[in-house]
Amino acid sequence: MTLPKHIAIIMDGNGRWAQLRHKPRVFGHIKGTRVAKKIITACSRKGIKNLTLYAFSTENWLRPSAEVSFLMNLLRRYLKKETENLVKENIRFSIIGDISRVPSDVKDAITKAMHATSKCTGLNLVFALSYGSRQEITEAVRTIVAKVAAGELAASEIDESTINGALSTYPTPDPDLILRTSGEMRLSNFLMWQAAYSEFFFTSTLWPDFTEADLEQALEDYSGRQRRFGAVLTNDENLHH
Ligand code: IPE
Ligand code: IPE
Ligand code: MG
Repeated sequence: MTLPKHIAIIMDGNGRWAQLRHKPRVFGHIKGTRVAKKIITACSRKGIKNLTLYAFSTENWLRPSAEVSFLMNLLRRYLKKETENLVKENIRFSIIGDISRVPSDVKDAITKAMHATSKCTGLNLVFALSYGSRQEITEAVRTIVAKVAAGELAASEIDESTINGALSTYPTPDPDLILRTSGEMRLSNFLMWQAAYSEFFFTSTLWPDFTEADLEQALEDYSGRQRRFGAVLTNDENLHH
């Protein structure tokens, strides 16, 4: 079975899961966090190198402030509780996104977790937090233009690798597989540049119901895909790389 080097997951459907049970939306976020924990461990044990989890989008700041602060607190508590386990599992934790908007106690928890796991060499675990692909690309353009203005870079030298290098995901390779739960079939401002040749897997399962068996199914499905990257392939050839 060909394993993706990088899986990116849009963990969606927490609110609907709770609503179906006549519970407040945050109830779904609590269960969703437990599922995330299980899936992180599963990916790590399978030997996946990179896992990006979409935890909170730039647009999610538009949600009711009570839900936003609940999510921020949940993340802070998760990091505090899990850092030791992450180290044990040799998982390196980091963040992409605009964390200047994140409350300072959450920022502290992030810094601590990143520091504690910085020497881990197993799974590279990335939380996309206050992340938006358009904002990320805008920021990259700013960085590149500043270099051009300072005379450090000629406009004619700008190529795809210049842009890659200016994105927050650098040096993580592009996601091979993007998985979204809850039946929605859209990117919602997630890794748009990086998704150019990603394989997509959509499931109607809501994130709090997502299991290791569902992950296994997505991996099997991925393994059966023929990735061409625009080229013409002969018979069994496959450009999984
Ligand atoms: C995903 O679940 C978690 C976050 C966006 C933080 P939702 O909260 O989007 O749940 P639904 O889509 O409303 O069911
Ligand atoms: C995308 O889900 C963001 C996360 C899963 C963190 P949303 O629930 O915010 O996306 P839309 O609004 O359905 O597109
Ligand atoms: Mg949603």
